[in-house]
Amino acid sequence: MTDRYAKSRKLFHRAQNSIAAGVNSGIRKMEQPVPLYFSHGSGSRVWDVDGNEYIDFQIGQGALLYGHAPAGMAEAIGEQAKLGTHWAAQCELEIDVAERLQKLMPGAELVRFNNSATEVVLSAFRLARAHTGRPLILKFEGAYHGWADEGLVGFCPPADKWGDDESPTRLHPSQGVIPEVLGTFVVARWNDPAHLRRIVDAHHGQIAAIVFEPVMCNTCCMEPVPGLIETIRELCERDGMLMIADETITGFRFAPGGAQEYLGFTPDLTILGKAIGGGVPFAALVGKKSAMQKIIDGTVVHAGTLNGNPLCLAASKWCLDHIIGLGGTHPKIANDLGQQLMTGLRSLADKHDIPLRPQGPGPAFHAVMLKPGAAEGPINDYRDYVRRQDAPRWTHLRTCLLEQGVRAIERGLWFVSLAHRQQDIDEALVKAAAAFAKHAAEWKVA
Ligand SMILES: Cc1ncc(COP(=O)(O)O)c(C=O)c1O
Repeated sequence: MTDRYAKSRKLFHRAQNSIAAGVNSGIRKMEQPVPLYFSHGSGSRVWDVDGNEYIDFQIGQGALLYGHAPAGMAEAIGEQAKLGTHWAAQCELEIDVAERLQKLMPGAELVRFNNSATEVVLSAFRLARAHTGRPLILKFEGAYHGWADEGLVGFCPPADKWGDDESPTRLHPSQGVIPEVLGTFVVARWNDPAHLRRIVDAHHGQIAAIVFEPVMCNTCCMEPVPGLIETIRELCERDGMLMIADETITGFRFAPGGAQEYLGFTPDLTILGKAIGGGVPFAALVGKKSAMQKIIDGTVVHAGTLNGNPLCLAASKWCLDHIIGLGGTHPKIANDLGQQLMTGLRSLADKHDIPLRPQGPGPAFHAVMLKPGAAEGPINDYRDYVRRQDAPRWTHLRTCLLEQGVRAIERGLWFVSLAHRQQDIDEALVKAAAAFAKHAAEWKVA
């Protein structure tokens, strides 16, 4: 039998001798049956080095909101490259991009640029601590805010170390972290407003900010329950804490103004990444002028050699002009296509008696594979997700989907980009039918 991933396997083998563990981001090692190597992409499609074509719902971990190699972006970057790739100084483009963000994002009175959302998260936390003179950041269990020491506290703790429901433990998934960092966080469970209120009250006067991904896309695509965002806003106002929305994934996706427009709230600070650059290393901290004051007066350091890099700015200007040009139409289209895909996957699952339950809004959703006997109904917090999801079974189904040319994210997340069309969804479901049949035939329920 021919190996459809032969070239990827060969490259991955070769990479072991020069790249630590063969990949440049730990999570990429998870891809089964082998981390794939890609040669090119166009719109909703991407090709690996073995020539396999995929309808891509991984879409650069969500960064490629406009699809692969969208017409016009390469030209915008190329024209800038001919003029200069880097100034480490000012250029008019940075004002152009900042003004577009002001136009799009409700919470964007002022802007600062970085090259990754991880950096922006650190800037936001530092700013919040300086702004309030308080030490603690409150974050939600299971939430991912970048890979730095501070972004990963409370990210995916193992079940035997959770702590009780009322006081989730502050665990870090990495070794080598400064131990004191853990003590600068408070962790609350997502989607329990009364519990959140109790945690805030227990640390009264100590919390600088509440940080949250408005739809927790990274963990099971969990939308906030009614009242959660309102409670966060109310508590922040009551106690003088900053409300920090991490819109690295949700930004520009659910509405032109991100989840804050989609859900109707205005944060004090917003973290933007991924789609703001459409695949180039670009990210931004945007916020209310009052919350940015310490950066304005220079008492909080915010720096970076490549901040406001002109190539990234040219790409971002192209992206934001694209969003503005669509006049707010894209979320509905992505939502309709995403809903069709979710419904189609669910009917295939039902046909083959596979407990797959897609959940989330259409432009991003999580295909949850339930464990045998797990309860039905939406999953609303991290603990429930761990208790109910059958990760090995999902990995098997994902591998079957990949063989058919449908690519979702390793942990079950799917993105519908602006490059996906009706034909992509129809074709993906035809391919998925073959994948589900193969999975049903091969998978043995324990
Ligand atoms: C919600 C959220 N915040 C922050 C980050 C970190 O972004 P970056 O990988 O650009 O540093 C991510 C990345 O996936 C994210 O999903």
